[in-house]
Amino acid sequence: MVQKKYQVILSLSLVVIFFACKENTLYTNWTVAGGTQEKIHYSSLDQLDTNNVKQLSLAWVYHAEKGDSTHFGPMQCNPIIVGNILYGVSPKLKLFALDASSGKELWQFDPADSIANKSWHRKTVNMNRGVAYWAEGEDKRILFTAGSVAYAVNALNGKLIPSFGKDGGINLNQGLDRDENTVFVAPTSPVTVYKNLFFLSGLVGDETPGHIRAFDVRTGKQQWVFHTIPYPGEPGYETWEDTTAYKYLGSTNSWAGFSLDEKRGILFAPIGNPTNDFYGGKRRGKGLYGNCLVALDAMTGKKLWHFQTVHHDVWDMDLPAAPALVTVKVNGKAIDAVLQTTKTGFVFMFDRVTGKPIFPISESPVAINTSLEDEKLWPTQPRPTLPKPFVRQIFTKDDLNTLFGASTYQDIKSRYDTYRSGRMFTPPSEEGTIILPGYDGGGEWGGPAVDPTTNLLYVNANEMAWVLTMVKNKPEKAGVKTNLEAGSILYKQYCMGCHGPDRKGGGDYPSIVDAEKKYTTSKLIELITTGRRMMPGFNNISTLDKQAIASFVLNAKSDQQKIYTGKSLDVSKDSNLGYGFTGYNKFLTKDGYPAISPPWGTLSAINLNTGKLEWKIPFGEFKELKEKGIPTTGRENYGGPLVTAGGLLFIAATADGKFRAFNKRTGELLWETDLPASGLATPSMYTINGKQFVVIACGGSKWGGKSSDSYVAFALPNK
Ligand code: HEC
Repeated sequence: MVQKKYQVILSLSLVVIFFACKENTLYTNWTVAGGTQEKIHYSSLDQLDTNNVKQLSLAWVYHAEKGDSTHFGPMQCNPIIVGNILYGVSPKLKLFALDASSGKELWQFDPADSIANKSWHRKTVNMNRGVAYWAEGEDKRILFTAGSVAYAVNALNGKLIPSFGKDGGINLNQGLDRDENTVFVAPTSPVTVYKNLFFLSGLVGDETPGHIRAFDVRTGKQQWVFHTIPYPGEPGYETWEDTTAYKYLGSTNSWAGFSLDEKRGILFAPIGNPTNDFYGGKRRGKGLYGNCLVALDAMTGKKLWHFQTVHHDVWDMDLPAAPALVTVKVNGKAIDAVLQTTKTGFVFMFDRVTGKPIFPISESPVAINTSLEDEKLWPTQPRPTLPKPFVRQIFTKDDLNTLFGASTYQDIKSRYDTYRSGRMFTPPSEEGTIILPGYDGGGEWGGPAVDPTTNLLYVNANEMAWVLTMVKNKPEKAGVKTNLEAGSILYKQYCMGCHGPDRKGGGDYPSIVDAEKKYTTSKLIELITTGRRMMPGFNNISTLDKQAIASFVLNAKSDQQKIYTGKSLDVSKDSNLGYGFTGYNKFLTKDGYPAISPPWGTLSAINLNTGKLEWKIPFGEFKELKEKGIPTTGRENYGGPLVTAGGLLFIAATADGKFRAFNKRTGELLWETDLPASGLATPSMYTINGKQFVVIACGGSKWGGKSSDSYVAFALPNK
């Protein structure tokens, strides 16, 4: 008897060890951005733990631009580590390989030098969030996108693989059933690899559909397309009142990247809203697959199921992050689930195979009264019963900031009184509508982390209110135009969204009122073409159009009087849009602090088995407020967390430029350090020769703050 009992215990413990090992090999590597295709940002490495994390020290720093300290773009890359090599992307979109233990560069690949880049003239959008690795035998490749080109680069020497696409690259503006000279695709998230296929959608222009596509890893040939705006005969087509929408509407794109159930071959894609972000009068209907989580058969692109998280979105509530794949235990039953964090603060969770919600989702009524012509808002929006939203979703007078005394309060209160506000999904308006959660969440592109051993979800979030003010587009008169007239229309089309109707900027975007003091016509045309940091480049605008814009922006009187001879200006298009908006404006005090009461940034831990909140803390700080004795306010943050078997939650992300480690069980701060610039990215974790590293890209460059080209790695000093 006794022996038998021991045998049972022995074999049970062998099973436990077997599973532990299996798990360990799976989560010890970081060969995929996000850790694994499950995108749960989890590492089973445990050399670093809650006891020794205080000793964590700088291991190496890599300057991706060799210290050239001019304008750096945002660096939001989550590097991958394959064997001893770390792959990442520089602020100027150079792909690089490093010895992951020392940070020494092995090679760099500059897409600007490639034939593809030179011939396709598509070097725009200075942003990249990561790369992907594929190997078969000796053939080892990094798949990497820069602007509208996807490259296959030899992972060992950094040379283009000429048999892929044309001279090593594929022009992503082709293959969309639209004129390749008017569309603009620029994937910013890493592609997802499955067998010999890879998948992408991308950041796209307003007239470019965000269709999801598969390509052959070896040849670069397009294999299938999933129409995110369905064609006649495809399911979902009937959700558009305008039956020709599929021919001209854009966006509806999956810019945040995918996750993949490798065993079942299911690709999960989070999708954003259709053009135009804030006015839906010309795209009435539910508008599938806008704002949907879509499950596709990875081999064929056939849709398995979908769920729309916002119907007829006019608040820019794109699904902002790759969903996370987890196995939850609800009422004693284990279910393979997919969960989606959102800008709205909801967590939606579904059975991966059936698409059935794990916790019930109701349709709750929302306000639909709008004075915007032709707009028809959807009367209900989905609301999961659990988990409770991880940010505030309602803005009332009681949410105004009272930290800074009576006069500041009076100022924001009097502005507040002129706006529409209330619950999330308050209709956009010409008087101004308070948007909370804001365009940047709630949750954002950093995505969440999940600890598969406890099923705790970790999500960082913003709690910033924004003001959305709509303006009716006046129909423009047809006929001959001066450069000034054409330039002002083109400005509205291409520039106003960021620099505002009066060119005064706002939020993260600079005023360009006195641009003529700094820019000549040719310098401005160059800037418009190449973009800079958070400003995209516009290669798709013709030179004549750029000249017209420049005459308008630079108040160049003699150029303004010339007759505009450009062909691309479609006068009807502008008035067709119905409404524009005055720009991305945060609701701020006159000193630039949020007009909403704190917390302004948060970090939450949610139990996925029960849907209950385990802990929540304000995340990030303003040093000067802390010194005045104001409790930690939290602060804007972009980039995700990483959770470890050693009991730690690592995250940078905040505007205060810190990198922190928390106790994953309690949210207690255990370690923090100052980075060269804000680490607006997700860290990666790996081990080499028994030494555990955590690494983060520190690009900064948002909020006009410090920028940097450094990747910084930390480890224990004595290992
Ligand atoms: C997506 C937002 C966005 C759009 C659209 C945009 N810009 Fe910008 N723009 C920016 C940002 C951000 C900067 C600051 C860049 C930096 O940090 O170097 C900027 C900088 C500029 C500057 C330089 C300001 C200075 O003080 O040096 C000019 C001029 C300018 N933009 C003009 C334009 C024009 C003209 C257009 C339309 C063709 C345009 N922008 C479209 C975001 C935008």
